[in-house]
Formats: sequence, structure tokens, C-alpha cells
Amino acid sequence: MKRLTEFDELADPAFSSAVISWQKTHGRHALPWQNTRDAYRIWLSEIMLQQTQVTAVLGYYARFLERFPTLHDLAAAPSEDVMAQWSGLGYYTRARNLHACAKRVVAEYGGVFPADPALLAELPGIGRSTAAAISAFSNGTRAAILDGNVKRVFARVFGIDQFPGVKAVEDGLWRRANALLPEHGIESYTQGLMDLGATLCTRSKPDCVRCPLQDRCVAHADGRTAELPVRKPKKTIPEKQAAMLLVLDRGQVLLEQRPPSGIWGGLMSLPEVDGHGARGEIDQKALGAAAQAFGKVEEMQALLPLVHVFTHYRLHIVPFKVALAGRAATAAGHVWWNLAEIERAPLPAPVKKLLLDIASPSLFAAL
Ligand code: ADE
Ligand code: SF4
Repeated sequence: MKRLTEFDELADPAFSSAVISWQKTHGRHALPWQNTRDAYRIWLSEIMLQQTQVTAVLGYYARFLERFPTLHDLAAAPSEDVMAQWSGLGYYTRARNLHACAKRVVAEYGGVFPADPALLAELPGIGRSTAAAISAFSNGTRAAILDGNVKRVFARVFGIDQFPGVKAVEDGLWRRANALLPEHGIESYTQGLMDLGATLCTRSKPDCVRCPLQDRCVAHADGRTAELPVRKPKKTIPEKQAAMLLVLDRGQVLLEQRPPSGIWGGLMSLPEVDGHGARGEIDQKALGAAAQAFGKVEEMQALLPLVHVFTHYRLHIVPFKVALAGRAATAAGHVWWNLAEIERAPLPAPVKKLLLDIASPSLFAAL
């Protein structure tokens, strides 16, 4: 049978050469976890660097190694000591996983981290990208990293127009990451991608002028570095609008019983007016007609709208104050309620707030 070749149309040896030569002259070379093949020190640094920047990690890294010089020291330590050393770095799940991982490497691998990234990735706190980094730095294994920084670099260089958090998009990025691996120099390449993402291809205002990938970068060519990577799409929640009538007369407000089911079912509320236009504008005629059903209208006044957020939509409440010169007969399901006692009315929170504002002493005098 013909052997499947590893050739991938996404392969491009010039990509890794550019990263590697840039790393050699402009990358970082003196970080405390570099220039070693000690998997313990490399692993510790990669876990600390997962959600924390280099400058914040440096001090913790040194103190941690002073307290736990070897993997065995860490595995044997009480968890309080581990947590105490981590205290201040944040994301404490990392510390719990770190301790659990140390114990497992001691118990299952005799205290020697496995070289195979697939085995590393099964240990607590070590994801696919971290496993690749540890393996590349401690064994020179040709394995692809894809952390947040590398995703940003790839999204920009290749002009990827979809949110990288989507599974299919992420799968595509992993395919690129694998296809672009160099034949030689995995350590410089891996460190180079990290350095590029952290120092040049930063989230805001990337330093494209100094970037070794500039001549092949889609985002740079198209002036789209601010738009890429595509941000997590916001859930669009529908906007609804309700016109409400605050029908006021002699210190009382007219409340209407809501239907037993649906939002605010069973509560009382203010009368609402249908007849919103296509763009949500309120039909003035319907408003006038609705107000007149409650009595002789002396004056109508639009109040400031307010927004109430439900789980599934945002409701824009557009209140209209209606001053009556005389009441019509009170229809079924309606009551006149003393504004001074509005606190006790069975009202939805935003409606009660609206009425409390109206009934506040300074405004009350003017009613
Ligand atoms: N972030 C994650 N791993 C890193 C490393 N080895 N050097 C610098 N920053 C990093
Ligand atoms: Fe990032 Fe600019 Fe380099 Fe493109 S050219 S990879 S946007 S730094």
C-alpha cells in the first residue's frame, strides 16, 4: 500500500525560517526557564505563564524553585505550602493541578516527565499546547503550540475571518500549526512564536514594522490588524419596546392586572399601548386613544425611557405621564392606587422603580 505522505498544502518552510532567524537576533534568550532541558523547570514556567505575563511570573518562579527545588520536593509538600507559594499569582486551579501533576509524575513515571506530548497532555493542567511547549523545550520534540498569542499571530498572518473559539476554526489553526513546523530548530521556532506574539504582534497596536512576517501578513496588508482576530461574537438579544401609561389623578395612579401567564404574570402593572411602528416608534394616535379610555385627558408628557434586561430580551419601557381632569368608570382589572403607598403594590421591579421616582416627595408636590 502506498504510504500517505505528510505533505500538507499549508506547509511553507519560509514561514518557520523567518520566525527562527528573527528569534535568534530579536527574541528573548535570558529568561530563567530558558537554556535548560530540565522538564521540571520548563513545566513549572509554562504553567505559570499560561494566564500570567512574564514580568509577573519572574519573582514567583524564583521563590517557588527555592522552596521546591525538585519535582520530588513539590510532590511531597503539603498542599497548603504549594497554595501559599502560588498566592497572588491567581487562577488557583493551576496550583492545585500543578501539585496533582507532580504527584502523578512521581507515582506513574518515577519522577521523570514523559517525552511524548500526547502523554503529557493527559496530566492535570497540561493542555495540548502546553504539552507541545514542554516537549519541544525539554526534548526537542517537533510538536505544535497554539496558545492565545499564537492564535492571534496566525489569525492576522493568514487573515482568518472567523472567531478562533469555534471548534472548526480552531481545528484549522491546529492544522496550520502542524504544517508550519520546521524540520530543525523547534526550540527557537516555538520560542520565536511566543516572543512574536508577546512583544510585536500584541493585541493592540502591533509593531508590524519590526515583524519578520510582515511581507506575508494579510492583516497588515489589508490594514485589518485592529479587526483580527475576530472577537467572540456577542449574543444578540432581541430588543422590545413597551409604551406604558402613568395615568395620574389626585395622588393616585391607575394600575392594570396582568394576564396570569407570560412575563410578570399575575402582577399588576401600568396599562400598555400597542401599535409600535416598524422601527419601534410609538404610534401617537394609539397612545392618545388609549389614554382617553381612562378619562378626560388634561395633559400628556413623555418621560425618559428605561431599560429592563430579561434573560431573553431587553425591554425598553417608554413611559407617558397622563394627567386626568376627570376619571372614566374604572374598567375590570384596573384599580386606582395611592402613590404614597406604591411601595406595597404587587408590581414588577422596573415599574415600581418608575413609580417610586414619580412619587418621590419632590415630584409628588407637582402632581
Ligand atoms: N509564555 C509561555 N511560554 C513562554 C516561554 N517559554 N517564554 C516566554 N513566554 C512564554
Ligand atoms: Fe502581527 Fe503585524 Fe506581524 Fe502581521 S505584520 S504578524 S499583524 S506584527
